[in-house]
Amino acid sequence: MRIDIITVLPELMESPFNASILSRAKEKGIVEVYFHNLRDYTDNTYKQVDDYQYGGGAGMVLMIEPIDKCISGLQKERQYDEIIYMTPDGTTLDQKLANQLSLHENIIILCGHYKGVDQRVRDKFITKEISIGDYVLSGGELGAAVLCDAVIRLLPGVLNDETSALTDSFQDNLLAPPVYTRPADYKGMKVPDLLLSGNFPKIEKWREEQALERTQRLRPDLLK
Ligand code: ADE
Repeated sequence: MRIDIITVLPELMESPFNASILSRAKEKGIVEVYFHNLRDYTDNTYKQVDDYQYGGGAGMVLMIEPIDKCISGLQKERQYDEIIYMTPDGTTLDQKLANQLSLHENIIILCGHYKGVDQRVRDKFITKEISIGDYVLSGGELGAAVLCDAVIRLLPGVLNDETSALTDSFQDNLLAPPVYTRPADYKGMKVPDLLLSGNFPKIEKWREEQALERTQRLRPDLLK
């Protein structure tokens, strides 16, 4: 999978991709991530990428021209499955959407900033608008990093244990069951006996029951 990220703050985005699972995915050649600094697509001496909004009002708006240059240049090189705009008024990211996006070959992610982007960018280029939750961030970069993490860990070969993404919370609209590791007794706090029994069919059944009980208690909305 190839991900092209368009941003005015590439430095804010690079570090999550240089650690742990995401860096391993890059090293294994499973994902390629490219950052494009919007300022590199301006002609003006001040490398200005934003301007005041027509009609007045507080806040700057990202201009269409550098975004057009960047996206059009990328589109000349290859076909993109989705051109995503990170924005608080987009569709809220969930596991189902991450699963869908993980099936794509090439995606572009445009990070909004200030008051957002000129509406004509959204009308002409954007195929999907995604929010990571009902709160406003200072830009789309952290949202894009969250989105990339959720998608990249699903790509085949990224996680060591191939089944582990399938047993994540939300994969069946259920929260994951509780997990334990050594020691079996820590200061009198004991691991449930069943997990030490070696009776795997029973353990599997217990995990299913726990997942359902947890979901009913903590996130009943998922069961509707
Ligand atoms: N940009 C600003 N706030 C955002 C949010 N909640 N999700 C995605 N992008 C954003």
